[in-house]
Formats: sequence, structure tokens, C-alpha cells
Amino acid sequence: RRAPACVLVIFGASGDLTARKLLPALERLTAYGALPPEVALVGVARTAMTDGEFGDLCRRSVTSDGNRRWDELASAARYVAGDYDDPATYQRLSEVLADCDRLHGTAGNRVHYLATPPRLFGPIAVSLGKAGLGTPDGDGFVRVVVEKPFGWDEESARALYADLSTAFVEDQVFRIDHYLAKETVQNLLALRFANSVFEPIWNRTWVDNVQITVAETLGVGERGGFYETTGAMRDIVQNHVLQVLSLFLMEPPTSFHPEAIRDEKVKLLRAIRPLDEEAEIAANAVRGQYTRGGTREDLMPGYRDEAGVDPLSSTETFVGLRLDISNWRWAGVPVYVRTGKRLPARVTEVAMEFRRPPQLPLFPGTDADLEPDALVVRVQPDEGLSLRFGAKVPGHAFRVQKASMDFSYQSFEEQSPDAYERVILDALIGDPTLFIRADEVGRSWRIVDPVLRYWAQDPRPIPLYQAATWGPPEAAELIARDGRRWRHRG
Ligand code: BG6
Repeated sequence: RRAPACVLVIFGASGDLTARKLLPALERLTAYGALPPEVALVGVARTAMTDGEFGDLCRRSVTSDGNRRWDELASAARYVAGDYDDPATYQRLSEVLADCDRLHGTAGNRVHYLATPPRLFGPIAVSLGKAGLGTPDGDGFVRVVVEKPFGWDEESARALYADLSTAFVEDQVFRIDHYLAKETVQNLLALRFANSVFEPIWNRTWVDNVQITVAETLGVGERGGFYETTGAMRDIVQNHVLQVLSLFLMEPPTSFHPEAIRDEKVKLLRAIRPLDEEAEIAANAVRGQYTRGGTREDLMPGYRDEAGVDPLSSTETFVGLRLDISNWRWAGVPVYVRTGKRLPARVTEVAMEFRRPPQLPLFPGTDADLEPDALVVRVQPDEGLSLRFGAKVPGHAFRVQKASMDFSYQSFEEQSPDAYERVILDALIGDPTLFIRADEVGRSWRIVDPVLRYWAQDPRPIPLYQAATWGPPEAAELIARDGRRWRHRG
């Protein structure tokens, strides 16, 4: 796959995201030959820099080993310094873009990548529109790429949508959720729709419950300031969790056309019953915040001790939820969601636990407490798939124990591309499959907003959990009440 002739314009070109993620991803794309000579790079940011200095920044940010095309792209890179709200910045950008068209044959095609703080997305889009930089010439294309968070709640997401819409129509807008670009998340589509063995059991007749876990061992690190106003619900559940969940549980799309897939995802999101009543929220949503913990050798600070965090903060670093899906396929199958920072293991997975066989006591001596059969998609680490089932323990007695069949991505020789390589190339090519549509954003906020509002006015202190444990006791109670257990506990 190769990008077409175009200019990639990075707003926030002097920032951290550009240096850490975007430039290294671009370098690797040049190494595969995915960025032909008709692709040019322009940086825009407030920091004063010359074209040459920006080129140096491009070279410095990557570890490239004699990659000629990268040197060429970096040497030809242009840079526009200016304030994002100053029309003169966009005037200069227009001139630079016209130069690119002349020198590199980029044919009026542009992809504006907004790698700035999110509060600037709306104003930059509006300014691009005013400067006439949102509309393609003739057959060309202009796209804008933004990364979550898409707003702070449903209302601010609408305001962002309105700003983006002053310059762009929906199919020009590429909203990134980097989880969708993870190999195993995409493999969900292959697993479900390239096989015939799974689909017949993918429903309430066979599935007892679904568990989605996004567990991190790290704390908030240096992002305390950002996290204080975000919290785990907005940072992970509203986007990554709901995206993965919708791909896992949606109906089969009628084709692999991007809109067909996105239509099914949004239908599933609409079927998730928002928790509206206070009593319902109190029973089905748990929040938590980590306190100091770990071992003596590896003592981890509590959230309130982290830099940039209010010592009385009630921001959640953990969320546990029980969601219910009101559709034909999933009625009555609870979906348990758990995410948190400073949990004991780094694991992101989607698991389906199957109903128990009707007559387990057929095998005397078998632990009645045996884990249920399960199909687990491991998103990270150790990407793969495993199917857990009961097998006879060797010996004279007839005793059943759990065994598992495992598939690991390492068994493929090919390496997975980094998520940013994939999303940048898709945005340049114009494939929106892995990007989120506006209606998905709105619907996801509709699911999490009532819970956030409830927590904001809940006078009780936020439940606490020690770092390196699986969340507050309330999370274990949430699932135990239904006679079930979290897959990871301890
Ligand atoms: C980001 C969140 O979107 O995803 C971070 O803002 C989180 O808080 C990160 O750590 C997790 O991503 P990954 O790819 O490491 O699972």
C-alpha cells in the first residue's frame, strides 16, 4: 500500500506526540516505500523554527539507518511558525502548500493532522475553513485527522463537531482511536467473520457473560495534570473499551465496506442500555483510585501523591461496569468492563465465558468451582487467542481440569506495524475503517455521561485500592452479586 500524492500537514509539529509517535511512524513508512516522492511534509507550531531546523528535528526523532527517502522527506520538509488563532499563520501555510504542489506534484491534496492539545482542535478547524484550506480543489482531497479525546462529554463533543463542520464534511474527518489499529483488535474481524466455527456460538444461547479488561501497571506518571480532568472513564472507557466492545459484539456487517462496519458498530452502541437511574448506576458502576502500594522494594506512590494531582482529588483511576445490551443476540448476557491504572498486570483482553454444561457432577471429584469455558482474545501483551475447556486429568480417576488451546501472534513471521504507522497511512490513503464516525462518538458519550454526572455529585468519598491490586472491593462485589468472578483477581 502506498500513499497518493499529498502534503501531510502536522499541527503541533514541535510537540511531544509528533516527536515520539508521528515522526518515527513516518520514517518507518518511508522505509517500506509507502511514502513516494510525491508526499511532502509541512510542520505548523508556535515555536519559532526554520525549515532546516524542523528537518533536523525530523532526523533527530528517529533512529533511521541510511534511509534515503526519509532524509529526502526531512530535507524537503517545510515549517510554518505562528499562533493557531492568527489568520497570517494560515496565509503563510497556503503559500507553503502552493510551493509543495509546484515542487513535489502534491496536486492540491492535503491531510491536516492535529497533534495539538485537544482544546485547539475546534479553533484550528475553524481557521482552516476560513482560510479556504478545508475544501479540496477539483478531484483532489483534503482531510483532517484528530485523536481522542473528542470532547469532554456529549455537549462538548457536539461543539467540537460543529467546529469541525465549519470546514469539513464528515467523510473528510478521520478520528483516531489507536486501539482500532492494534493487530489483535483487527483480528476480531477475522476471527468472527473469516471462520464459521465461532459465529454459531456468538450469542446468548451459548455465552454466559463477556469480560473486557484494559489493565495497566503504570500510574499516571507525568500526565497528572491531564488525568485530573479526564479520569479512567473518559480516558479509556468512552473510547477504547466501547470501540473494542462494539467490534466484538456487533452483528456481521453486510460487507467490509468501512461504512458497513461502522453502521454495525453504532447499532451495537445504541443497543447498550445507558444507566440512567441513580439506583441503577450505584449498582452497576464502580469507581476507584489507587493509593500507595506495591512491595518494599517497589513502592508505588498513591494517585494523590503524583505530580500535578490535587491532594484531595476524587478523579477515578479505576472503573468497573456491568453493561447490558438490549438486542436479540445479547439480551440477558452481562458485559463486565474493567479498566484501571496501577493494577497488578498489564493485560488488555476480551473474553467470552460460556455457559456451564448442564451436568458437571457427571465427573465425580471434579471441582464444582471449575472456571467456565472461555474464548479469550488477548489484545496485549502476547497478542493471541486462547480457548479454555475441560480435559480429563491423566490417571485412573475421571477428573476434569481446565486446559487451553493457544494461538500466539508470534507464530507469524510478519511483524505487526505500529498503530500510528497504520493510522497515518490509512488517513493518507483515505480508508476510514479504523476511524470513528461522529455518531459513534455521540453514542459513546451517551453511555458514560450519566455515570460521570452521578459520580460528580455523589457525596461519598471515592473508593480506594492499593497500587498493584485489582481495584476496590466494590469491583469484586459488582460481579460476585451475579454469582460470577472476574477472570483476573487475587
Ligand atoms: C491512551 C490513554 O489513550 O491509551 C493512556 O490516554 C493509556 O492513559 C493508553 O495509558 C494505553 O494505550 P496502550 O496502547 O499502551 O494500551
